[in-house]
Amino acid sequence: MSDFYALVPAAGSGSRMGNDLPKQYLPLAGRPLIFHALNTLCACPDIATVFVVLAPGDTLFHSYDWSRFGDKLQPLYCGGATRAESVTNGLLASELEPDDWVLVHDAARPCLTQAHLAKLILELRDDAVGGILAVPVADTLKRADDQQRIACTEEREGLWQAQTPQMFRAGLLAQALGNAKKFTDEAAAVEALGLKPKLVLSESGNFKVTYPQDLLLAELLLQQGKEI
Ligand code: CTP
Ligand code: MG
Repeated sequence: MSDFYALVPAAGSGSRMGNDLPKQYLPLAGRPLIFHALNTLCACPDIATVFVVLAPGDTLFHSYDWSRFGDKLQPLYCGGATRAESVTNGLLASELEPDDWVLVHDAARPCLTQAHLAKLILELRDDAVGGILAVPVADTLKRADDQQRIACTEEREGLWQAQTPQMFRAGLLAQALGNAKKFTDEAAAVEALGLKPKLVLSESGNFKVTYPQDLLLAELLLQQGKEI
C-alpha cells in the first residue's frame, strides 16, 4: 500500500503582503504563519512525512523551535523562482516512490483542518488521477475591458476556485511538472497531460492569506477552530 506525504512550498516572498518579513513568517495567532499548516499536516495520522520547501537562503525557519514535530517534518532548502519550480525541486529532493501520494499545500493557507484533509484523502485514495480541494465560485464574475469597465458578465455556473492541498501520485506529478514550469497549480500541470483531476468540495475557510486584511480573518478562524 502506498503512503501519503505532504509537500509545502514556502519559498515565496509575499510581495502582495507588502511586508519586509516573508509572508510565511508573519505573526499569526502567536505563531509564524507557516506553523499552522505544518501543525495540521503533521497531526494527520495518514501522512508519513511533511516536506517543507524553503528558499536556499532562508535563515528564519531554523530560528523557530520545530522539535515538537520530530522527524515527521523535513525542511528542504531547494525553493525556486516560482511556486511550480519550488514544488518540482521539492518533489525531486523528497525521493518519493512514483506510487506515493503527495499532498501539495500552500504554507499560506493556515486554516486547513483535519476535516479538510480527511475528506480529500477519503475521496481520492482510490482515484486514478487525483484531485484538489476547491469551492464553487460564490460571486458574480465580470470581465474587464482595458478601461477597467465591464466588458461582460461571465457565466458562473460550473466555475470553481482551486485551493490546496492538491493530491497526486508523486510519479505523475513529477512527469506533469516536468513538461514546463509555468503552471500556477499542480492540477494545471496534470490537466496539460490530458487528465481530469477531481474537484473535492471544500469551504471558503481554507483561503490563502495574500493581503494584510487576510491575516485578521485567519486569526479569527484559528481562534475559533483550533488548539494552538
Ligand atoms: N512559493 C514558493 N516558491 C515561490 C513562490 C511561492 O514556494 N517561488 C510558495 C509561497 O511561499 C506560498 C505558496 O507558494 O506558500 C503560494 O504562493 P503565494 O501565496 O503567491 O505566496 P508568495 O509568492 O510568497 O506571495 P506573492 O505572490 O504575493 O509574492
Ligand atoms: Mg506568489
